[in-house]
Amino acid sequence: MKLRSTVTFRALVLTLSVLTVFTFHGCKEQPGAQSKAPTAVALSVPLGLPAVPIPPDNPMTAEKIELGKMLYFEKRLSKDKSISCATCHDPMMAWAEHIPTSKGIHEQIGARNANSVINTAFLSSMFWDGRAKSLEEQALGPIENPMEMGQTMEVLLDDLAKIPEYQKRFKDIFGTDVTKEGVAKAIAAFERTILSGNSPYDRYQNGDKSAMTGDQVRGMEVFMDKGMCATCHTEPIFSNGRFYNAGIGMDKAEPDEGRKKETGRDGDLGKFRVPPLREAANTHPYFHDGSVAKLADAVQIMADGGKDNPNLSPMMKGVREAKLTDRDKKDLVAFLNALSGEYPIIKPPKLP
Ligand code: HEC
Ligand code: HEC
Repeated sequence: MKLRSTVTFRALVLTLSVLTVFTFHGCKEQPGAQSKAPTAVALSVPLGLPAVPIPPDNPMTAEKIELGKMLYFEKRLSKDKSISCATCHDPMMAWAEHIPTSKGIHEQIGARNANSVINTAFLSSMFWDGRAKSLEEQALGPIENPMEMGQTMEVLLDDLAKIPEYQKRFKDIFGTDVTKEGVAKAIAAFERTILSGNSPYDRYQNGDKSAMTGDQVRGMEVFMDKGMCATCHTEPIFSNGRFYNAGIGMDKAEPDEGRKKETGRDGDLGKFRVPPLREAANTHPYFHDGSVAKLADAVQIMADGGKDNPNLSPMMKGVREAKLTDRDKKDLVAFLNALSGEYPIIKPPKLP
């Protein structure tokens, strides 16, 4: 019952505090001569999160975030115009989706579970195997991936350029025609506004000792100390961004090579980036292959030290040696529920 109360979603109206209006001088983006001055925004960050890192060549402006929002929901980004980013990263499903692995155009089933977009602003590498370095670099991937949106950049840019409203917005914001760099920057700027914090855990840390239940507090202690979870799932987003082999899916006929696919190193076989855990209670199913439906079962596997395979990370063996009890595992689940807080739920905007 204690769990119930913390599992509920809480919608948060996205608050962007509009600072002063000024033009960016000496920055790469020089808006066209006829365009209006961009409206700089400072993101208001929820309790528990640090300031969002913003790349110097992609400053946050209200106009750019708005364009990014439109493109995020824009099905024209896919070849048959049936899929948008929001199809697989649905705001109503904690910006992920509740199926094991994603379905692209023509009902093609991919091999991996869609990560949530929440708090990706803080990640230094993207995807389960870390093959993209930034949100800007990531954003163009799914558009051209034949298994996902299956579009070609040429056709997409052409399609968007035919729509006067997009043409105008790109001119105003970037001072250019519709470009892939602009598409990537706008979507990335929008994604940086999708944050989750102000969870019971954050309020507890902020001095409200009634914000977490007794089970959650015990679970926190197991997470931080005895269970060693926090060595990999580090704050503020509960991922250290590194890659480990926890043995998930390694017993398949053709296991996903994970990080090895990116680096070519045998030692990286079956390693995946530590997933962030805020809102994990709402992003089922779990693991890179979406093979586990329930949070309690995912915790059980991790708390038992992962699954045996020749490349199991030594740290997972350490977790195994901690011999967590059933009570410990139950409390860990309670604690993870205390990491669900507030995040924006955004409705699809009107598209041209
Ligand atoms: C067909 C479903 C699908 C569509 C459409 C899709 N994605 Fe994804 N997304 C995924 C899957 C699956 C992954 C994980 C893939 C992997 O690790 O190889 C992913 C990963 C990501 C990540 C990495 C997050 C992390 O934790 O590393 C981001 C960010 C992201 N997608 C944003 C987008 C954006 C922006 C779009 C639209 C341009 C988009 N996605 C379209 C399925 C999809
Ligand atoms: C050695 C680093 C490491 C340690 C220690 C660790 N984890 Fe993980 N955790 C991972 C990795 C890597 C994955 C992703 C594995 C995969 O999908 O193949 C993961 C996945 C998870 C997931 C699934 C999240 C999702 O969105 O799919 C949960 C829940 C989780 N861990 C909880 C825990 C708990 C609880 C502990 C402590 C008992 C713990 N982890 C200890 C590295 C670690």
